[in-house]
Amino acid sequence: MDKQNDQSRMDRIVSLAKRRGFIFQSSEIYGGLNGFWDYGPLGVALKRNVKDAWWRDMVSGHDELATLAGAPAPYEMTGLDCTIIMHPQGWKCSGHFDLFHDWMIDCRESKRRYRYDHLHGRWAAHRGKKVFVTTEASGDEAVPETVARAQKFFGLRAKQVDEIEWGGGLESLEQAVAAGSATLADTLGPDAAAPGSLTEPREFNLMFETRIGALAGDDDDRAFLRPETAQGIFVNFKNVLDTSRVRVPFGIAQVGKSFRNEITPRNFTFRSREFEQMEIEFFCRPAESADWYRYWRDRRWKWYLGLGLTEGRLQLREHHADELSHYSVGTADIEYAFPFLAEGEFGELEGIAHRGDFDLRSHMEGKLVRKDGELVVETGPDGKPRHRGSGKDLSYFDDVTRERYVPHVIEPSAGADRGTLAFLCDAYHEDEVPDEDGKPRSRTVMKFHPRLAPVKAAILPLVKKDGMPEVAIDLYRALKPHMACQYDEKGSVGRRYARQDEAGTPWCLTIDGQTLTDKTVTLRDRDSLAQTRVPIAEVVAMLRDRLS
Ligand code: GAP
Repeated sequence: MDKQNDQSRMDRIVSLAKRRGFIFQSSEIYGGLNGFWDYGPLGVALKRNVKDAWWRDMVSGHDELATLAGAPAPYEMTGLDCTIIMHPQGWKCSGHFDLFHDWMIDCRESKRRYRYDHLHGRWAAHRGKKVFVTTEASGDEAVPETVARAQKFFGLRAKQVDEIEWGGGLESLEQAVAAGSATLADTLGPDAAAPGSLTEPREFNLMFETRIGALAGDDDDRAFLRPETAQGIFVNFKNVLDTSRVRVPFGIAQVGKSFRNEITPRNFTFRSREFEQMEIEFFCRPAESADWYRYWRDRRWKWYLGLGLTEGRLQLREHHADELSHYSVGTADIEYAFPFLAEGEFGELEGIAHRGDFDLRSHMEGKLVRKDGELVVETGPDGKPRHRGSGKDLSYFDDVTRERYVPHVIEPSAGADRGTLAFLCDAYHEDEVPDEDGKPRSRTVMKFHPRLAPVKAAILPLVKKDGMPEVAIDLYRALKPHMACQYDEKGSVGRRYARQDEAGTPWCLTIDGQTLTDKTVTLRDRDSLAQTRVPIAEVVAMLRDRLS
């Protein structure tokens, strides 16, 4: 059985992604740009299918008259498409301007920069000399990396490695320094030759800054690329209420680009500096918000399963109370066991957060902080709000119950790129199939759910003569208005199947001699390899049926 978590498997996925045109490094001909990725011809179709499936399942296909399983009541869904650059005051009130940062740490010796919470280390001692050896590596590579670094630091030969005494397992450098069990002076940085080269950690705001207008110069022109799509929804809450017929409970969805100047982008597209999010802000009565939170958590979990992610590689993780943001009543993450992580580790695909009334109140009143358990407007030394809100009334009047309240928000926030990466990793399989002579041939096959597959069907004339291409082209033209399909007449049928398997095409339709006499084609199933004869007149309806 394949080892699912290992870097070499991930390397093979990355290499297939490049070779078959799923994902390329941005600006590759100039040496690439760290943290930025482009989607190639197959990748753009895959990612679009992920986003379209999300929009259709959550928004356009939502039945607002029915009470869906697990939902406390029927509800409405609508959408928005907001700008990437918003009024800078919005980011001040939301808290991003003051708080959306990571701690970074520099190495004076190697000139490298690290995210403080990404460094792990352990004590190593040899003949009275001690050092806290750190690494940026994660997963299976972390421990061997510390061994290699300690060996080099103490100047040992390979056979002397056993002489190193280790003071326990790997721990976070941040936590070790906070607990006093290590100091930066004793710490050997991940790329340094001597200890003590790491600087004190500093805050680094992750928002990309830009300037608006030709006369850019003073602070009033400063603007930011949005680090999440959510705030565009909150600032338009009143516009949506005033211009559509939606009533609480309802959700507003948005898909779009977000930008974060990540200190250390890594793991292919998992942590990028430019990425897409698929976010819903769901507005409900405060008293019902806990039920809605549970509904959305379970609904989103089932969505990933329904699109074929392996259940054993998914995890639903409720945050502990000390992990929750200051405004959050409850948060759960849907996580996936990406192959680049160590066995037992998971990476976040989506967060489902109960955000209370924090966001709407922030944009009304100004930036909020929690004081004695209550959310209050943060004030400066002059007693005035630190960041003034819009002053607009974002409360809601319920004309059935005759109550006025600030709705509570449940936010399912998913990453389109992370989702796409999970579908890509999960689809990747290596197996053996018989070739045209019946001999086993190893194949790489992407077992995408048909809804996500970039190409749904390939139409292959067995040979380029005897009228077969003409019949195949007719079938291609009949199918094309209904789904993405390809016509391919180049190379042996075995090679053509192999090409389609790597692209993840679920069905191949072969036109052969028999087609010309009985008007049937061979339908080959990518996963079971079963080959069945289907009347050519029924192909379109049959595949449309399977896709829906
Ligand atoms: N509005 C809430 C919010 O933005 P988040 O957990 O920071 O929450 C939501 O982001 C999702 O966006 C994550 O679960 C992840 O899928 C995606 N995401 C966040 N940062 C990312 C990055 N640097 N690269 C790729 N995807 C990212």
